[in-house]
Amino acid sequence: MIIEPKTRGFICITSHPKGCEQNIVNQINYVKSKGLVENTKKALIIGASTGFGIASRITCAFGSKADTIGVFFEKPPSKGRTASSGWYNSAAFEKEAKKEGLYAKSINGDAFSNEIKEKTMALIKADLGQIDLLIYSLASPVRTHPKTGVRYKSTLKPIGSTYTNKTVDFHTGEVKEITIEPSSGDDIDNTIAVMGGEDWQMWIDALQENNLLSTNFKTVAYSYIGPKLTEAVYRKGTIGRAKDHLENTAFTITDSLKNINGKAYVSVNKALVTQSSSAIPVIPLYISLLYKVMKEKNLHEGCIEQIYRLFNERLFATQVPTDDHNRIRIDDWEMREDVQEEVTKLWKKATTENLSAIGDLQGYKNDFFNLFGFNFDEINYDVDTDEMVLIPSIDS
Ligand code: NAI
Repeated sequence: MIIEPKTRGFICITSHPKGCEQNIVNQINYVKSKGLVENTKKALIIGASTGFGIASRITCAFGSKADTIGVFFEKPPSKGRTASSGWYNSAAFEKEAKKEGLYAKSINGDAFSNEIKEKTMALIKADLGQIDLLIYSLASPVRTHPKTGVRYKSTLKPIGSTYTNKTVDFHTGEVKEITIEPSSGDDIDNTIAVMGGEDWQMWIDALQENNLLSTNFKTVAYSYIGPKLTEAVYRKGTIGRAKDHLENTAFTITDSLKNINGKAYVSVNKALVTQSSSAIPVIPLYISLLYKVMKEKNLHEGCIEQIYRLFNERLFATQVPTDDHNRIRIDDWEMREDVQEEVTKLWKKATTENLSAIGDLQGYKNDFFNLFGFNFDEINYDVDTDEMVLIPSIDS
């Protein structure tokens, strides 16, 4: 079929298998150009198909020649309907891994469920014995609790008072005001239940009970802090409470891993265009301005550059550099004072008329379409393309 982008709000409901493959190959080539980092031999990546998760899987496999198991929740293709991009990304990843003789298997399903945990553990037991690294990069709007069956929905709301600020519709470039009502009822608890640390801990507990973690095992989950500009809706909002919970969980997990000298970390990453971040109000405007400033200062990184730096310089250092909350900060360049000062100045000025000049709206849009395999120069989008691309390790 001829596959074109079809957007609905902040998502794209089609994706291009060849373009997704190009996206993966580009990331693999980046890692290969940097050389081996030899940090992990057997890694489990949860949320492994898009954004920071696929970048982590690529870095493990092509940076360290590690065996990888990836868990994700993606839509397979059906005749006449494309798969979700994370599906095609994973198919491309496995194809490239196989070419290099690397072990790579994937599990598609709800990582919050007992069933997927059991399935993953059975695979580790059968194929890898133990893992030495678990990357937790899951981003989801909902979670069904495996013990109670309660379905929680997360929210992206300020806490305490109504928040009004600028935002951009990145499709049209229109800068407008947005007002978000504060959280109410169980919004905070529900968001913590979805995006906090409970599920991360459940994974670690289950793996440890089954003796699937090696000595010196490490685990890392991803978090975000960001600037004052976005804090009402992000770090001091409902999602920020969930990130507080996630960050505190790292301490509990490290305690529980003492007998194997294991460690849990949270890495605070840079704001980047991913399927999850495009859904957060205000963030697309911030990212458009941030990209402009960071590109001008030659500081811009995408997911793969961020994760390679995390692996190469931080996570496996003899003394892991952390802030006073034990967090690894690869958002250091984003948070630099000179960067933030300029973004704040631009933020005040930003209007529909000037955004494409003072911000990097084009860069935002391009990254957005790239997530779904579109806008790659190497791909001819006018030719008939087979949408029925399967993931080799998944029976479909
Ligand atoms: P993403 O939307 O690109 O990736 C989410 C991943 O989770 C996908 O692999 C998806 O298949 C998987 N997933 C979702 N629900 C699932 C479920 N029920 N079971 C199994 N897998 C499931 O998101 P992104 O942005 O890469 O986020 C990953 C982490 O990085 C999140 O914790 C996020 O808060 C954090 N982060 C993101 C930043 C950003 O600007 N995008 C900045 C800093 C941190």
